[in-house]
Amino acid sequence: MPGRGGCLDGAGTWACQIFGRATPPSAPRHQSKIQPTVGDLQAQLVSWRGEGARIGPLPGDEGSARLTFLSPDRPPSQELVAHCMSRLASLAYSRALTSAVGAATESVLAACGFQVAEEMVVLTKQLDRDQPSAVPPPGFSLRRSRRRSASGVLLLDAASFPPEWRLGGMGLREALRATPRSRMSIVHGPHPAGYAITGMGHTGGFVQRLAVSPEHRRAGIGTALLSDGLAWLHRQGAVQATVNTQSTNQVALSLYRRLGFERSSQRMAVMSVSKFN
Ligand SMILES: CC(C)(COP(=O)(O)OP(=O)(O)OC[C@H]1O[C@@H](n2cnc3c(N)ncnc32)[C@H](O)[C@@H]1OP(=O)(O)O)[C@@H](O)C(=O)NCCC(=O)NCCS
Repeated sequence: MPGRGGCLDGAGTWACQIFGRATPPSAPRHQSKIQPTVGDLQAQLVSWRGEGARIGPLPGDEGSARLTFLSPDRPPSQELVAHCMSRLASLAYSRALTSAVGAATESVLAACGFQVAEEMVVLTKQLDRDQPSAVPPPGFSLRRSRRRSASGVLLLDAASFPPEWRLGGMGLREALRATPRSRMSIVHGPHPAGYAITGMGHTGGFVQRLAVSPEHRRAGIGTALLSDGLAWLHRQGAVQATVNTQSTNQVALSLYRRLGFERSSQRMAVMSVSKFN
């Protein structure tokens, strides 16, 4: 993904983009412990006739904003997009990047002058009765996080992704709330070494986030976290799991394919705009 100050080209790390809604029907207990980060506090909401979007600074890319539509399961109206663009101009941003959006939202945004900044690859996997199980390497244990402070997870996320892809407190809350049920699992060594968020939607499951700290990679922790999430989804009744990642994230693609995911025809893309008037 292009971007001033962004390090996606060189860092070799990339994000999953969160599927689902950003406004929850209810908040699981562990979410109340998530503290807002500086970027969260600077975020602004734009509302238009029942629709909404959030504008906040894009970490590591001064002058750019992250634009998140708060009902990603239905496309925004052109009026909401126009309101967002005038707010971006009034806040003196020079550029905005969206979170990954589906094809319908992409069409609306393209009509408003946005361009595709990054195409995502969407992969799916049918969940069988016998999910392959994998345990973390010796010295590490995998636990479901129920009431622990999320600060360790935010540090881990920040170490795993380049600035503009980091979740922050608000993003972490949204990942946990994006589906009616979600599970956050953490692999612990002396410190948290990896974490995953898996969400159960109405008809299927989603791998919302997966990260292993750079010093513990290629030891089987990612496989253990993904297997744990898939087994949980199957127990929840999901018959299919979906994940997305950037087409350039060969490491994640290799991991997903190794666990049986196949590329789907579903389209998702990150959109950008730099002229707001
Ligand atoms: C993707 C990620 C979670 C993998 O975690 P991990 O603990 O290193 O993965 P594992 O050790 O379980 O490796 C499983 C498989 O992934 C692939 N893989 C992992 N690291 C790889 C590398 N450096 N090069 C190529 N393939 C790699 C391989 O297929 C590997 O199987 P193998 O070791 O039998 O060849 C980790 O690299 C990461 O956090 N990356 C940054 C964040 C990210 O991209 N998350 C995914 C967003 S969708």
